[in-house]
Amino acid sequence: MDQFIIDGGRPLRGSVAISGSKNAALPILIATLLTDESCVVENVPVKLRDIKTTIRLLESLGKRVEVSGQTVRTWTHGSLKTQAPYELVKQMRASVLAAGPLLARFGLVRVPIPGGCAIGLRPIDIHLRGFDDLGARRIADHGDVILSAPALKPGPLKLKFPSVGATENLMMAAAALPGATTIENAAREPEIADLARFLERMGAQVRGAGSSRVSIRGSLKLSGCRHRVIPDRIEAGTFMLAAAASQGHVRLEGAEPAHLQAVIRCMRQAGAKLDPCRGGIEVSMSGRPRPVSIKTAPYPGFPTDLQAPWMAWMCLAQGKARIREEVFENRFLHAAELARMGARIGVGGHDAVTEGVEALNGAPIMASDIRAGAALLVAALAASGRTVLQRVYHIDRGYEKVEQKLRRLGASLRRVNR
Ligand code: EPZ
Repeated sequence: MDQFIIDGGRPLRGSVAISGSKNAALPILIATLLTDESCVVENVPVKLRDIKTTIRLLESLGKRVEVSGQTVRTWTHGSLKTQAPYELVKQMRASVLAAGPLLARFGLVRVPIPGGCAIGLRPIDIHLRGFDDLGARRIADHGDVILSAPALKPGPLKLKFPSVGATENLMMAAAALPGATTIENAAREPEIADLARFLERMGAQVRGAGSSRVSIRGSLKLSGCRHRVIPDRIEAGTFMLAAAASQGHVRLEGAEPAHLQAVIRCMRQAGAKLDPCRGGIEVSMSGRPRPVSIKTAPYPGFPTDLQAPWMAWMCLAQGKARIREEVFENRFLHAAELARMGARIGVGGHDAVTEGVEALNGAPIMASDIRAGAALLVAALAASGRTVLQRVYHIDRGYEKVEQKLRRLGASLRRVNR
């Protein structure tokens, strides 16, 4: 298994290119199931493990997929299958997004119910309730859910929580239904707006994506199209925090400041300098941050996916900061690993309190999920001494060429296989 050896304490300096968004590319690639025609998706972070898993999922469902550079082309030759393999769903929960397009197109789909993961139970009841409201019948069988409907009915839907995945699943189903579907209390993340643009290019009409009320007027025949995926705001935010924690000066090429407003605001409060510049964001910081408390929330609130890297930075603050995790029930596993590096963190339920220390020290530590891994990287880059970071495969799910990018910024980091 791969691990990173990091010699910390060097300020990151220089510029780095931000990749296409993983969490936008995943549903967009899956939405290509809505047509047999050729779809060309550009700016896909193809090196990521989750993107590779998505491509395998599409192939297992009968899609042909061609990857060239950062571009993925999909088309159908023959007929599609309506059963997603457990082998892939267990590796990547987002595979459940295949349910919406397949159910709407073929009236039948069988998907394994994804289990919990390191950050929480992560049920899919909001997705399923939405399919019920569109008129699907559902049977549970041997760990799978079978959804069927001779013809789904478009109509009004109201989500009990603005779930990103449920909004995407239902938008994809609605895109294949003639008639109007509205989704109330929809997720507002930029990835939702990007999926909406893709569905529009396929021939659906989508209004209000990015607000909490999305209306979709679908079509029985969607066509192929070409689309460029938005930049990854979570990768950009992670590099912003790594730059600040290492007291460096970094330019993030291609980052979209409009997608990171809550984080930019909080980082400025903590003392970092952030300049949205042409084609990106520039970040610089010297000294320890002021403590700033945050609470995660669905977009446009502070993203849960940056809570862990934020905590890593606050471990170095000049005082106490409170971090409240409102989106997932169990997203503090990184706290114990940060403590191994000398951080002082108290955790109780949905709250963590960091009491900043002057410096963190390198130590052997272990990632438990993508963003916990990112937090440990941020901490290791800022720490004095050597860190051995294990279970790097979590980081590889969400950060493309991370060691090349960090080395370009002057970090001392290498990957070893042991
Ligand atoms: C997406 O997950 C992202 N994944 C996550 O990124 C991100 O953390 C999350 O949105 C929140 O922003 C992808 O886009 C592939 P949710 P998703 O449905 O869609 C509860 C990363 O690190 N919920 O908005 O699964 C759920 O348990 C990943 O890149 C239900 O109760 O998130 C959670 O507590 C991790 N029932 C909350 O809602 C449901 O049916 C938010 O989940 C669905 C969700």
